[in-house]
Amino acid sequence: MKFCFALVLLALVGSARSAYRLQEKFAWRSMDYAFPDDFSRQNALQSRAYVPENNLPVAIEVWGNKIFVSVPRWREGIPATLNYIRADDAFTKSPRLTPYPSWQGNELGNCANGLTTVYRMKADACGRLWVLDTGTYGIGNTTTNPCPYAINVFDLNTDRRVRRYEFRPEDTNANTFIANIAVDIGTTCDDTYAYFSDELGYGLVAYSWEENRSWRFEHSYFMPDPLLGDFNVAGLNFQWGAEGIFGMALSPIKNDGFRTLFFSPLASNREFAVSTRILRDSSRTEDSYHDFTVLESRAANSHLTSKVMSDDGLMFFNLIDQNAIGCWHSSLPYKPENHAVVDRDDVGLVFPSDVKIDANRNLWVMSDRMPVFLEADLDFNDVNFRIYTAPVDEMVRGTVCDVQTAPSNYLQGGKQKLFRPRFSQNLRQKLPWWATKAYQVYEN
Ligand SMILES: *[C@@H]1O[C@H](CO)[C@@H](O)[C@H](O)[C@H]1NC(C)=O
Ligand SMILES: *[C@@H]1O[C@H](CO)[C@@H](O)[C@H](O)[C@H]1NC(C)=O
Repeated sequence: MKFCFALVLLALVGSARSAYRLQEKFAWRSMDYAFPDDFSRQNALQSRAYVPENNLPVAIEVWGNKIFVSVPRWREGIPATLNYIRADDAFTKSPRLTPYPSWQGNELGNCANGLTTVYRMKADACGRLWVLDTGTYGIGNTTTNPCPYAINVFDLNTDRRVRRYEFRPEDTNANTFIANIAVDIGTTCDDTYAYFSDELGYGLVAYSWEENRSWRFEHSYFMPDPLLGDFNVAGLNFQWGAEGIFGMALSPIKNDGFRTLFFSPLASNREFAVSTRILRDSSRTEDSYHDFTVLESRAANSHLTSKVMSDDGLMFFNLIDQNAIGCWHSSLPYKPENHAVVDRDDVGLVFPSDVKIDANRNLWVMSDRMPVFLEADLDFNDVNFRIYTAPVDEMVRGTVCDVQTAPSNYLQGGKQKLFRPRFSQNLRQKLPWWATKAYQVYEN
């Protein structure tokens, strides 16, 4: 009985880790590519078109049997920036990357028909892959812009590009650095918007698929917190003090027909939110200050770059200072006691760079030791890059994020109502006051 009680308490304080660990699916010391033959690989190595130690994978997306992997062109020798591997590859744990949609489609500096640098990509429920080509080559003070920022959308069933849209000059500024995408499907596949977070130019660009048009929001909530620019990862101390709006995740559709976009600056422990009712409306770029809302701070050491939300409002995010993945169920108030760590690994999860959920409700995580690559040197005798997966429901079981009983999800909109968790009288007397406290939820 005592043991049971301890388990319940642990689950409630949110520090409990789920019993189920992320399963390592793929792992690499360095990245290699599926060149047509060995002769081409040797040629690429000799001409430095392929320099293995310069290839850092940063993001993943999962669609069907494909796992997309992006490799930004920060240095020379990146053969292709957008690639995939097969999720069911049973022959090797370190598969070679196959360029997507093709080698030609990844040509550096070919603005009209190639991809120069891709960070994150998003597959949507309409079978489209959204890819932002930043058009950049280099990183930090070495950055050049052979091409403009352009949205590329691929039909995943035919592997053909169905749309290319260059951002307008007004969508970016001299500091712009956009690494993240969120895709907002409404009532039909045509009724789709995409949002792009400008981390260093402090903006949010919205794009309408139907109108083939973009516009830009600016807000002080997109800026970094000047007190939170100091980072400690993998024994390295470094400052990323200028890093603003980065991670984004969209809620399910609420009763009012719109989603909530959750976003957070990188140098920050704050979460912010705005309705897509605002973002979808290009007339609101100038007068929407008060439509953006602030959520409570996360606990200390909770910088993050990537987040994702399931169809029923369960969010996962990467805790880059903690070598961990966190969760939060959006039926509960956004505050530290309602967050949990679902997995932590001081070797395998050093810089968990991306988190995704696939159509079968599996969580996917990539880790890549990025700060070691950028601030020091990777040891290529060691495993540096990993892809993990686990069923979403297993990952949250027994944590505060395992919310099955909430009467309704507040994101569904509707009337506000108090939700009091149900416990036996006996247990209620033993629990701390806040564990039995009523929550504000919204009822349909
Ligand atoms: C670019 O930055 C690096 C370190 O970040 C520095 O060593 C180098 O001198 C800088 N180069 C220029 C041209 O500013
Ligand atoms: C979208 O707009 C761009 C110009 O920004 C144009 O090149 C492209 O053809 C348009 N695509 C569609 C489908 O209208």
